[in-house]
Amino acid sequence: MASNTLILGLQWGDEGKGKIVDALSEEVYAVCRFQGGHNAGHTIKVNGQQTVLHLTPSGILHPNVNCIIGNGVVLSLEALDKEINDLVDAGINFDNRFFVSSGCALILPSHISIDKVRDKKESIGTTGRGIGPSYEDKIARRAVRLGDLGNEQILREKVELLVSYHNRLLVELYEEEPHDIDHVIAELLSFKHLHDKYCTDTQGLIYDWIIKENQSLLFEGAQGTLLDIDHGTYPYVTSSSTTAGGVSTGLGLGPKYINKIIGISKAYCTRVGEGPFPTELFDDNGKMLAEIGNEFGATTGRPRRCGWLDLLALKKAVFTNSVTDICLTKLDVMDEFNSIEVCIDYQGDQPVYKTFEGWKSSTEGITKFKNLPLKAQEYINFIEDFVGCNISIVSTGPSRDQTIHR
Ligand code: GDP
Ligand code: IMO
Ligand code: MG
Repeated sequence: MASNTLILGLQWGDEGKGKIVDALSEEVYAVCRFQGGHNAGHTIKVNGQQTVLHLTPSGILHPNVNCIIGNGVVLSLEALDKEINDLVDAGINFDNRFFVSSGCALILPSHISIDKVRDKKESIGTTGRGIGPSYEDKIARRAVRLGDLGNEQILREKVELLVSYHNRLLVELYEEEPHDIDHVIAELLSFKHLHDKYCTDTQGLIYDWIIKENQSLLFEGAQGTLLDIDHGTYPYVTSSSTTAGGVSTGLGLGPKYINKIIGISKAYCTRVGEGPFPTELFDDNGKMLAEIGNEFGATTGRPRRCGWLDLLALKKAVFTNSVTDICLTKLDVMDEFNSIEVCIDYQGDQPVYKTFEGWKSSTEGITKFKNLPLKAQEYINFIEDFVGCNISIVSTGPSRDQTIHR
């Protein structure tokens, strides 16, 4: 029977969504992105070769899987063009299997300027990709959308209005250089081939696939629950709905078509950018997590802050998203620790920890739960019981096959 699966992050992003979406893509008809933009960096490792995707859904490496960028995504045509070219050079085919919604709000160069200049003052630590300002314009109903590239007259009018507004902000408020409007239009038109080739009514496609053809789809989240515009650590968040509700608005289908919800969490916790992180470590344990886990941002290369797993935050994220199954990633990163802590309570702002003895043996590449060291099994079972949700997938390495299905 057909069944649709949502995969999303339960922490501050970079939980390993790309790896798991890729690993589960083989079984589905299409993989669909529903929010975010090229602030995402999703890493896939197959046969020793690493691919980092920013906009393209993580099903693209499977030649028979269709890929959709839904209306909820904010789209940089420049980033998309580059990513497609790189993947085509690597032998990936996009023809007749890659579709982008005409409703995607476009990220313009002036959005990027505004994002960068604001972040100097507001210090959210954004990825500087223009994400916040472009969602802002979408909500304010003045965005230029992918479909607008189909009519040059309309495109010109909309870009003129929007970029004049941006220029006023840039010049008068931030004392920055304005953008040349004709140049912006010419640059957008230079990417018209993307519109002509891939722009379509993606909601209509999804309707046909689910309702008429009884196909199974996979919905791929970007960022994570704690970066959600409503449910994250506001204002230190991204500007989209990263949680389960974002699927309905970002693709145009009702919640009853989401049958399984896999929430991804690292066996510990990381965060890139500013904002609260109560279980953050500043000691040797934190350094070990960063080094062994190779914790550097896949988009900006910034070092990720590291800390212990926060089970209260995880439990809340499970509720926020109606998670049916947890996937615990990067278990192997904890192999060498003498002891491991998890946050099980708070006293005021201070986390209260439960301490586990480390298993001190390699879990790398293990594919059967019963082959994990008993202490690692205990750690996983404790998390499962505390949070009240099955941990049905455990990841023991970055490669597609280094995965335990319980
Ligand atoms: P995403 O944004 O959620 O897709 O995650 P990223 O790709 O930004 O970051 C996850 C990083 O961890 C990538 O470098 C992955 O290759 C790597 N990774 C994923 N799962 C595992 C795992 O189980 N073990 C180890 N050691 N690395 C992993
Ligand atoms: P993936 O999909 C981790 C963070 C930024 C910043 C905040 C706002 O790879 O998990 P933005 O540019 O979105 O306005 O930045 O959100 N951030 C991410 N952190 N993983 C991501 O994506 C992120 N996308 C945005 O670091 O703190
Ligand atoms: Mg990432």
